[in-house]
Amino acid sequence: MIAAYQARCQQRVDAALAELFTPPRAELHRLYQAMRYSVTNGGKRVRPLLAYAACEALGGDAGQADGAACAVELIHAYSLVHDDLPAMDDDDLRRGQPTTHKAFDEACAILAGDGLQSLAFEVLADPVRNPRDADTRLRMVGQLARAAGPAGMVGGQAIDLGSIGLKLDQAALEVMHRHKTGALIEASVCLGALASGRADEAGLADLQRYARAVGLAFQVQDDILDVESDTVTLGKRQGADIARDKPTYPALLGLARAKGYALELRDQALDALGRFGPDAEALGALARYIVERRH
Ligand code: IPE
Ligand code: IPE
Ligand code: MG
Ligand code: MG
Ligand code: MG
Repeated sequence: MIAAYQARCQQRVDAALAELFTPPRAELHRLYQAMRYSVTNGGKRVRPLLAYAACEALGGDAGQADGAACAVELIHAYSLVHDDLPAMDDDDLRRGQPTTHKAFDEACAILAGDGLQSLAFEVLADPVRNPRDADTRLRMVGQLARAAGPAGMVGGQAIDLGSIGLKLDQAALEVMHRHKTGALIEASVCLGALASGRADEAGLADLQRYARAVGLAFQVQDDILDVESDTVTLGKRQGADIARDKPTYPALLGLARAKGYALELRDQALDALGRFGPDAEALGALARYIVERRH
């Protein structure tokens, strides 16, 4: 079920994203090419999938969440372009292809990341791409800004880079992961819910509980795959965390307990979906997929 759902959602979001990369003038051809390269080079589209599934859990149509889905994937793509830079994780391979700074150059990769981030907010603010009332659009812009910014993903990246070679305890590791990965995943679910136009505070609270668990589980699984997958399957260098002495869940707990923790988080996520009944089937499938995925 998840594979068919994933294919459908990928098509939706890829079609909406494709419209964003036409350079408005010839001089910007390379910048737009680098942005397109960074977004359309594969990618599981987990965050758009979560946005669509949250919208549907509240009885909305997937089409209402196209803007939200694009926005969260644009922020994600930007975060990966910058994460791979020599000054950060210094990786050469992403989604099975050269990283953006390798395929273009460093300055171009920095600007492409900056451009993708701005585009995300442009899309959310646009009443055509995100056809909600102005108050809801403003709320969505604020939520994404918080999740992407220094109190969210950017803050998590700062903690990550400041933690190289350190032994974090589980509480500190959780803070890092909730910021660098969890925040954007939570925003993906919340934005999808708001895009439905049917979000009430009780529903949002349950969806947030779901998203908090899934967001942490996602990074725990990412850490696990760094240990036990391989470079071809991952499309990025296996063992990169170990090589750089990054604090991770398998490093702290060992592989078996890290896997147990991912499953515990999955169950917490599934637990939060009770009120939505069959409409939340896709959200449930995504929670399972996130801890079972091999890349
Ligand atoms: C990788 O994210 C970076 C993390 C936040 C762990 P994904 O595993 O979603 O990467 P893509 O988009 O599928 O390449
Ligand atoms: C990345 O975490 C989180 C981001 C905000 C991009 P990682 O550094 O673990 O992601 P990968 O393993 O390079 O995809
Ligand atoms: Mg990193
Ligand atoms: Mg990295
Ligand atoms: Mg990783």
